[in-house]
Amino acid sequence: MCRIPCVAAFFLALTVPEQGFGADRELGEAIYKKTCVSCHGKAGKGAASYPKISGNPVSYTTEKLKAYREGIKQGPNSALMIMKAKPLTDEEIDNLAAYLEHAE
Ligand code: HEC
Repeated sequence: MCRIPCVAAFFLALTVPEQGFGADRELGEAIYKKTCVSCHGKAGKGAASYPKISGNPVSYTTEKLKAYREGIKQGPNSALMIMKAKPLTDEEIDNLAAYLEHAE
C-alpha cells in the first residue's frame, strides 16, 4: 500500500541522523576554514595560546559559541571570541559544532 513513500522515508531516516538534526559538516568545515582556522589551527587542534576546539560533543561547542555570541565572557581572552561569534547564525553554529566534533 505504501511502497514508494515507505522506501523513501526509510532511506531518509538512514541518512539524516548521522549528522544530527540536519547539521551540515561540510558547510561547517567551509566556515571553519574561512573564519576560525587562523586562530584555532588546522581542524581545531589549537595553536599557540588558542585552545583546541575539536573532539568536543556538539552540545558543548554549541553552548560555548552561543554564550560568546551573547557577549558572555568565559575565559581571559573571551573578547576575541565574542567578536568572532557575533555574526554567526544558529545554523552556522550547528554546522560548526557538527564539523568540530569529528574534525581531523
Ligand atoms: C582571533 C582569534 C580567534 C578566532 C578567529 C576564533 N577564535 Fe575561538 N577562541 C579564541 C580564543 C582566544 C578563545 C579563548 C577565549 C576565552 O578566554 O574565553 C577561543 C575559544 C573558543 C571556544 C571555546 C573553547 C573552550 O573549550 O572553552 C570555541 C568553541 C571556539 N573558540 C570556536 C571558534 C570558532 C567556531 C571560530 C570561527 C567561527 C573561532 N573560534 C574563531 C580565539 C579565536
